[in-house]
Amino acid sequence: MSFVLAIDQGTTSSRAILFRDDISIAALAQQEFPQHFPASGWVEHEPEDIWQSTLATCRAAMAQAGLRAGEIAAIGITNQRETTVVWDRVTGRAIHRAIVWQDRRTADACAALKAGGHEPMVTHKTGLIIDPYFSGTKIAWLLDQVPGARQRAERGELLFGTVDCYLLWRLTGGQVHATDATNASRTLLFNIHSGQWDDELLALLRVPRSMLPEVKDSAADFGSTVPDLFGGAIAIRGIAGDQQAATIGQACFAPGMMKSTYGTGCFALLNTGATPVASRNKLLTTIAYQLDGHRTYALEGSIFVAGSAVQWLRDGLGIIQHASETGPLADRADPMQSVYLVPAFVGLGAPYWNPRVRGALFGLTRNTTPAELAHAALESVCYQTYDLWAAMRADWPDADAASIVLRVDGGMTASDWTMQRLADLLNAPVDRPVIQETTALGAAYLAGYAAGLFPEPHKFADNWRLQHRFRPAMSAASRERKLQGWAAAVRGLLASDE
Ligand code: G3P
Repeated sequence: MSFVLAIDQGTTSSRAILFRDDISIAALAQQEFPQHFPASGWVEHEPEDIWQSTLATCRAAMAQAGLRAGEIAAIGITNQRETTVVWDRVTGRAIHRAIVWQDRRTADACAALKAGGHEPMVTHKTGLIIDPYFSGTKIAWLLDQVPGARQRAERGELLFGTVDCYLLWRLTGGQVHATDATNASRTLLFNIHSGQWDDELLALLRVPRSMLPEVKDSAADFGSTVPDLFGGAIAIRGIAGDQQAATIGQACFAPGMMKSTYGTGCFALLNTGATPVASRNKLLTTIAYQLDGHRTYALEGSIFVAGSAVQWLRDGLGIIQHASETGPLADRADPMQSVYLVPAFVGLGAPYWNPRVRGALFGLTRNTTPAELAHAALESVCYQTYDLWAAMRADWPDADAASIVLRVDGGMTASDWTMQRLADLLNAPVDRPVIQETTALGAAYLAGYAAGLFPEPHKFADNWRLQHRFRPAMSAASRERKLQGWAAAVRGLLASDE
């Protein structure tokens, strides 16, 4: 029996999952770590917290399963994407806290780049739009704001990495500074057509090339862990951003297959095969995975608030104790009320891309209670998915659009209420798989594939099993009325920014 260790370093917690070679789970450890909100719209992580929680969970999972380093064939890393770390290549010390993907501090810098007419070139090369979400303007902010950082970077003393890259560097004791193509494709610095860092983009965002990691396939030789970390060296053989890893874990290997993951945010990816599809509806074009030197592309819709809307009900409003209470509470909502929450807590992502607006509730009455708020919070996640779904179908060739099936995963998919409402609003089936740990499974697959443990993607896809298919059951009239109400709420919010 061989084992693969998947590290899943997410926005709010670090996890380590040991998979057996039949993809059953041998052990799982998880640790939350602190979030820092130094100003409105700013979100930071302490790189040392990211590292220590990762190390602790890996050790805990190995201890749970009673495994030694020599029994683990390979490590796969998957990570919160875009989050930006800059550190000293000699001391290893980060020059600042990590700036998290949700952070909006570079909104003005992005507005200036757009006003300068740069967006068409950037979008053409990177598949992205100019938004604070991505790493590029975060790196520039760090170099400009941390005293002396720009000079140090220009002297070649500083390194940049997304979280995968930072962890890899720590795991290998500073020996390997590398990332994979999926993570590189989220930086605004990477040309997704050539598969290279791009000098024109580096000059535009004023990022010295010497800071950047080597970009590899998602399944590749990323070196080995320093022996004293786990009592022996373990090979690191896979890296992918968490949404791309979930796409792999959901076995969306064929063009036209789509998954949507509900974590802190919600991210829908549609596999478009070997051809990058340029969106006409403000979706992103991104790299789904790069295997054996071949890139597979995806259209992506990114929503910044999904599970964090439920966290807000729990921690901000205190109207639930536990996330699992949300569905039953929503079910008690008064059907005569039409309350809409637009959860733009950190602005709006796809397909609106407005970093300035903040969240709003519409349709409150004297009769509105926590039940209607819970209802509005869960529905907001479905409506946002609907917006992505509609954009994807409009971007994908007409003939195929009707056949797109949505595979879902992530914490919120445990809520039957939410998944049924999602199927109702999409007017399409929603498939929930047996294995819910799709993100970690994707990372384990990449590492296991490179280590020769798992077969090629299309054979591996046979392991995917349906746990439940939610079928649409809402009348066309109700669906139409609800979708129109949502569209009006979003319009109302966006108008407040004009
Ligand atoms: O792009 C951000 C995304 O990778 C974060 O995912 O699961 O940590 O919310 P998650």
